Amino acid sequence: MRRKILVTGGAGYIGSHTVVALHNTGYEAVIVDNFANSSKSVLDGLEGIIGRRPKLYELDCTDRKAMREVFQKEKGLQGVIHFAAFKAVGESVNEPLKYYQNNLGSLLVLLELMEEEGVKNLVFSSSCTVYGQPEKLPVTEETPTQPATSPYGRTKQMCEDILSDLRKSKSPVRSLALRYFNPIGAHESGLIGELPNGVPNNLIPFVTQTAAGIREQITVFGDNYNTPDGTCIRDYIHVMDLADAHIKAFEYLDKVSEESFYDTVNVGTGKGNSVLEVIQAFEKVSGEKLNYKIGDRRSGDIEKVWANVDKANQVLNWQAKHDIEKSLDDAWRWQQQLSKK
Ligand code: UD1
Repeated sequence: MRRKILVTGGAGYIGSHTVVALHNTGYEAVIVDNFANSSKSVLDGLEGIIGRRPKLYELDCTDRKAMREVFQKEKGLQGVIHFAAFKAVGESVNEPLKYYQNNLGSLLVLLELMEEEGVKNLVFSSSCTVYGQPEKLPVTEETPTQPATSPYGRTKQMCEDILSDLRKSKSPVRSLALRYFNPIGAHESGLIGELPNGVPNNLIPFVTQTAAGIREQITVFGDNYNTPDGTCIRDYIHVMDLADAHIKAFEYLDKVSEESFYDTVNVGTGKGNSVLEVIQAFEKVSGEKLNYKIGDRRSGDIEKVWANVDKANQVLNWQAKHDIEKSLDDAWRWQQQLSKK
């Protein structure tokens, strides 16, 4: 019998790829998703990859009563991987309550139920946004966090604080917060990938939509930063590598001997690429010429950030396997499949 893991937000971008990784490693993912920012077509993609429809509860993770029923019905859950959250930085500035309510509320409900039902292992989606603009690069988990620049970022910091407080309270719940750098790419089948709502905020979907002719032009947000080519630097990680890190994180927690446990781990490639490097790499793998222009800086952007991934290597025995070209190739395949529909 496959060991069962609850995956909240399992129809979302990183969640759906993690459902595939769980299946490939011999686990059964039970998805909870309210499709607030995902589409039911993801389930078809998942079925195409893993050969069956994953078990799904369509509900809101902040609904304590409904979530309690899931925990009680799905006896023997081995852990929870919690992706369900709102993630648009700009929207969070305009609608902070929505972000606090959803991102904090869902974590609180889960933790309460995990304690109640004796489910011990929690992998939490955090973000490198907690570091702000670090003074020293690459960032390690010891790099001091900085005051968040948006309610979205603050919810990630607050959720980390909640998990840390829970450990101090000697709660039996053991958790790891994975601090993601910039997830990109798609499953190589082209059957699942990133599905942004409306005009994408993030770089890669904007790049692929421009190449596909959906957007006329992409603007590079600033070329006067203190970086070699003047454009911002990020650590872009293939979403399947990121998905694998969740399996390793769960397996690590499962073996922790302490009653109560919490820690943070960076998940990136350890390598930074500038916006112009990403565009060049995309042009190379796709054979498409990208229509881009240099524009103003985007307010709130971090100049440069990339990860030190020693801890993930050593503690989780994990490292990224795919490079930026593979990530962009998979992102492009996904976009082309979408455009055909
Ligand atoms: C952003 C959030 C981060 C969040 C992540 C979720 C900010 C400051 N950070 O990360 O907290 O966890 O999304 O996915 O909003 N770029 C362009 N043109 C575009 C789009 C992006 O030049 O049309 C550049 C940006 O300036 C940046 C890089 O591409 O240098 C990556 O941007 P993006 O994909 O939005 O991610 P982050 O800003 O790193």
